[in-house]
Amino acid sequence: MNEELKQTPSPWKRRFLILLVITVIIPGFIGLLFLKRFTEDIPVDYANPTEHFKYGSTGGEHEMGFPYWIWKALPEVCPQYLPGKGYQSLGMVYEKNPDGSDRDLPVGTSQRRFQGVDRVFVNCAVCHVSTVRTAADQPATIVLGMPAATFNMKAFEEFFFRCAADPKFSKEFILPEIEKQGANLDLLDRYLVYPIAIAIMRDRVLALAGRFDWVFKQHDWGPGRVDTFNSAKVIFNWPMHLLDPKEFDAPADFPSIWRQRQRMEPKEMQLHWDGNNTTVEERNKSAAFGTGTTPPTIDLQRIKRVEAWIREAEPLPFSAFFPVDRDMAAQGAPIYQKYCASCHGASGSDFTGEYVGTVEPLARIGTDRRRLDSYTYTLAVNQATLYAGYPWRFTHFQKTHGYANMPLDGLWLRAPYLHNGSVPSLRDLLEPAAKRPKAFYRGNDVYDPVKVGFVSNVTEAGGKKFFRLDTTVPGNGNGGHEGKAYGTELSDGEKAALVEFLKTF
Ligand code: HEC
Ligand code: HEC
Repeated sequence: MNEELKQTPSPWKRRFLILLVITVIIPGFIGLLFLKRFTEDIPVDYANPTEHFKYGSTGGEHEMGFPYWIWKALPEVCPQYLPGKGYQSLGMVYEKNPDGSDRDLPVGTSQRRFQGVDRVFVNCAVCHVSTVRTAADQPATIVLGMPAATFNMKAFEEFFFRCAADPKFSKEFILPEIEKQGANLDLLDRYLVYPIAIAIMRDRVLALAGRFDWVFKQHDWGPGRVDTFNSAKVIFNWPMHLLDPKEFDAPADFPSIWRQRQRMEPKEMQLHWDGNNTTVEERNKSAAFGTGTTPPTIDLQRIKRVEAWIREAEPLPFSAFFPVDRDMAAQGAPIYQKYCASCHGASGSDFTGEYVGTVEPLARIGTDRRRLDSYTYTLAVNQATLYAGYPWRFTHFQKTHGYANMPLDGLWLRAPYLHNGSVPSLRDLLEPAAKRPKAFYRGNDVYDPVKVGFVSNVTEAGGKKFFRLDTTVPGNGNGGHEGKAYGTELSDGEKAALVEFLKTF
């Protein structure tokens, strides 16, 4: 009997196998494909450290990332919320392709494939890269590590908030634009992934817009500035409408971030404009919140690469763009040593000086106090809970009572000057406040080598309107850093020599 069974294969066995294939193996295979497609977490990586700085990921795409094709489509879907054409009109910097066209994504954005969607978000370079031109008809040079003097962060935020609130932010308008741009989405993307992504992104951006509605109520920052620590309060769900008005409207200039090693060795300097943190790692991780990362999503390994790069990065010298009068600079050197070196370091590359990296009390420095007041003890205490439980928990944030005496490396690229960017040029900073410009224009990348600052008296150029900074607006005060110790009582000849010397920084 048993022998017989073996000879004729049982129809049941065949049926069982077919059933197995239909119910387990095929779905399992499809499941694996889906699993692979929707659980991938692959950033676009760059071997070269400067490319990584410009386009590498810090992890922000995980939670905040804009699906690539939505990022591409939005300027066409919501052009009315942009000051001009494309993200270029917000002052984002695009490198050129060999054929002269703009690169696909601007400097300061990174890409990562996550949960089945290619995503784009900003990285450190969006606030720490900009361009310089020697004349309006000359090509722009991209300078890494300088303040993003042309990037209008507030307009960038408002663009997404306004567009997400617009009825056109829907698959009916966005998908056709995506197809028009040649996306060639596959069936899954077209009918499932992107329609869902559009809905999710809209909800997320609108939820964020609710938490950032105070940004709309602030005076415009203009390009090159952000209200750093009021933005940080959002992380803690601060009730912004209950904020003490004197903490509000505290725009801060984007700083340069070269030569970080010398800011930590031989001693750790108190930095950020008000010196609220002495460790560069915490400043970097705190900055990473600005790139959309949170404790679980931060990409520490890739941020470390940025840290390594900014430790040694150096500014481009003024002399690579304009001549420096060496004799005159030599006359300026002793004036600098006498008045400035103890607070700002011996030179642009030697940061030794008694008070460098310490905080100058507000009563003495006398510059606009908003940025200082926006950083409160309560915020410091809350920041100390960030990364709680991680080995790199924040422990160094502190409330200070003045602004930091910082090194002046690459000074010429850091215009406009002071923490709120309220003084257009070095020459103007050497005047007493009453004689500094009461209003001027920001956002031009054409350089004025005489006053040493960006051209600030032109209202628009090349179809781009510049931002009028009015120093009477709260947070924009241009007073302070004046009196004998700060060089504002020097003769015109001495000031000219000092400015010439500062060109060597
Ligand atoms: C949204 C814009 C923005 C982004 C993105 C950003 N930063 Fe900054 N960064 C700033 C501003 C503004 C300050 C000055 C803060 C202040 O004191 O108000 C600053 C300060 C710093 C400082 C301290 C500079 C000094 O000398 O005091 C470092 C270092 C730094 N950033 C590094 C980074 C790194 C690394 C990243 C990416 C992980 C990054 N930043 C991303 C805007 C940004
Ligand atoms: C007692 C210390 C002290 C002395 C002396 C001093 N400064 Fe300053 N300086 C500061 C502080 C503090 C700030 C930041 C103030 C702020 O941003 O509100 C500053 C800011 C600056 C800035 C703006 C930097 C930037 O990135 O925007 C420049 C430029 C500058 N000082 C140049 C000079 C020169 C030149 C001298 C000498 C004639 C001088 N300082 C003397 C403390 C000092």
